[in-house]
Amino acid sequence: MSINLTSRYLGLTLKNPLVAAASTVGMKIDNIRQLEDNGAAAVVLPSIFEEEIDFDIEEAERLLFATGSEASSYLPYGGEDGMGAEKYLDLIRQAREAVDIPVIASLNGISRAGWTQYASEVEQAGANAIELNIYFLPTDCAPTGREVEERYLDILRAVKACTSIPVSMKLSPYFSSPGHFIKELDDAGADGFVLFNRFYQPDIDLRETAMTRDLRLSNRAEIRLPLLWIGSLAGRIKGSIAASTGVATADEVLKYLLVGADVVMTASALIRHGIGHMRSLLEGLQAGMTVRELDHLDQLRGQLSRRSVTDPTAFDRANYVKILKAVTPIDS
Ligand SMILES: Cc1cc2nc3c(=O)[nH]c(=O)nc-3n(C[C@H](O)[C@H](O)[C@H](O)COP(=O)(O)O)c2cc1C
Repeated sequence: MSINLTSRYLGLTLKNPLVAAASTVGMKIDNIRQLEDNGAAAVVLPSIFEEEIDFDIEEAERLLFATGSEASSYLPYGGEDGMGAEKYLDLIRQAREAVDIPVIASLNGISRAGWTQYASEVEQAGANAIELNIYFLPTDCAPTGREVEERYLDILRAVKACTSIPVSMKLSPYFSSPGHFIKELDDAGADGFVLFNRFYQPDIDLRETAMTRDLRLSNRAEIRLPLLWIGSLAGRIKGSIAASTGVATADEVLKYLLVGADVVMTASALIRHGIGHMRSLLEGLQAGMTVRELDHLDQLRGQLSRRSVTDPTAFDRANYVKILKAVTPIDS
């Protein structure tokens, strides 16, 4: 049985729903070729950081003053070792030449400064779309929730105004009302959403009594939060939805598609198992379709979204109450 896995994401037609998430894997052209060879339908390049782009220095100072922090604390993956604005444009050009699958550039920042000019250069370099990762942690406790949301809207509008390629928003789940805010971004013209970004949280080294900063790869148990929100939003917004976090096996791919994701991204699993793992995810997805006797992904996609299920309580408070009541008390 031939299975049609064609998927639409950000207005692009993809041969299947598997996308390599932004990560260090995409830093090398050879890796990007291997991703395509192993079935990836699109690739998101690692982020270029706002701080790496030569933008108005006054704005930079204003920004640092306003947030009362050091620029380096905004650099979760790159920092001074980042690639620089020109090098990044080269990476886009080379990737475009090396593969036929869409190449999505990733811009990571917290203000609109610098992006306007650069976003159009990214488009000219050949990127098929832009993913905006607004990695903003208001740990100085100053801005209100609404001010934080307005920052996102402002950056989205600024980038949309200077490019004609699609723009997706990679978001964290930490908003008071994520669904409402995503709808607002949707109305403001976002072409899609990557749900969710993973903030890298610090830990403590007790021997040294010091904060540690290390990068923990994800595990499959982490799909539950994105699953909840993707399921709640699927079919209710114009923009497309990419699932990101916790995709270790084809099971997670199937689950994300069942709640309505348009595409599914993976990063940690590729780092853990190598680029060939993309092929296992694809084969596992095909096997999952075969077992269900389905020949088109649209027959599976969204079957369990909040909109499609007859009993949506699984997504709601009622379910939480039921679960808590069902827990057997521990005998003392
Ligand atoms: C080594 C590594 C590098 C990453 N680099 C970026 C990046 O440059 N930009 C970005 O938006 N996300 C980056 N991410 C986050 C991933 O794109 C992804 O959203 C997150 O890891 C959750 O997906 P996963 O569970 O499949 O790893 C990175 C993740 C890892 C593990």
